[in-house]
Amino acid sequence: MFLKGKVAVITGSTKGIGFGIAKKMHDEGAYVVINSRSEADCKKACKKLGEKRCMFSACDISKREEVKKMMNLVVKKYKRIDILVNNAGIYPFKSFSDLDDETWDKTMAINLNGVYYCAQEALKKMKKGGRIVNISSVAAHIGFSSLVHYCASKGGVEGFTRGLAIELAPKGITVNAVAPGAINVTGKKDAMKNNPLTNSIPLKCFGEPKDIANLVAFLVSDEASYITGECIKVDGGMTIRNP
Ligand SMILES: NC(=O)c1ccc[n+]([C@@H]2O[C@H](COP(=O)([O-])OP(=O)(O)OC[C@H]3O[C@@H](n4cnc5c(N)ncnc54)[C@H](O)[C@@H]3O)[C@@H](O)[C@H]2O)c1
Repeated sequence: MFLKGKVAVITGSTKGIGFGIAKKMHDEGAYVVINSRSEADCKKACKKLGEKRCMFSACDISKREEVKKMMNLVVKKYKRIDILVNNAGIYPFKSFSDLDDETWDKTMAINLNGVYYCAQEALKKMKKGGRIVNISSVAAHIGFSSLVHYCASKGGVEGFTRGLAIELAPKGITVNAVAPGAINVTGKKDAMKNNPLTNSIPLKCFGEPKDIANLVAFLVSDEASYITGECIKVDGGMTIRNP
């Protein structure tokens, strides 16, 4: 229970990697705040956690006013925010020649502006010892066809992480990023076993949300107080592979 009593906001935590992070933090004793745009999905996710040490706030993180309301709600209930995990993100596939401004803007609005809004609003309630973890992607490090907009947004997230880490260091707040590789977010074990991408991963399998959650839980714990501005890949060796 190494996160006992900590208050953690995890964006986009009704499913996939975000829910995996919320579950791990809850298991480690934290009070978790579940978020997505859908109130029904938030309720369901809280129920899955047993509704103990859990609240939700349905909001669109690409909208500053909604984010502000969410953080105020959290402080009203739990009095403070110790941890923010910026996890919510989208990855719509579109070739660059077909890419339209709407897809580009939406990707930036959620993946990058959302991280900016959530960090700025959460920091108003965060004290020394606070923790921010941004979920990036290996797409910030290697190129992916039909994901130019996504690669750009995650590259932005990592630059943001380093800049903010420097600015918050004197305040004793750390800011790090975790870059997942291919993660099985279907909720079904071995669902990606026959996916063609598996062959290009040295460990020969997709990761699971818990693989990301285990690292995030460590980074937000007191044990990781000397780590800041880092981006750590969790990708089964995908990005160190020698073709
Ligand atoms: N799945 C992967 O293989 C993978 C790989 C690398 C990086 N990532 C990153 O991990 C994060 C989570 O990905 P995932 O695969 O679990 O996604 P997912 O689609 O399974 O879940 C995304 C969550 O974010 C929420 N969300 C989306 N837009 C939102 C908004 N505007 N406001 C609030 N909530 C919103 C969704 O409702 C959902 O709860 C993303 O940032 C993604 O870029 C995923």
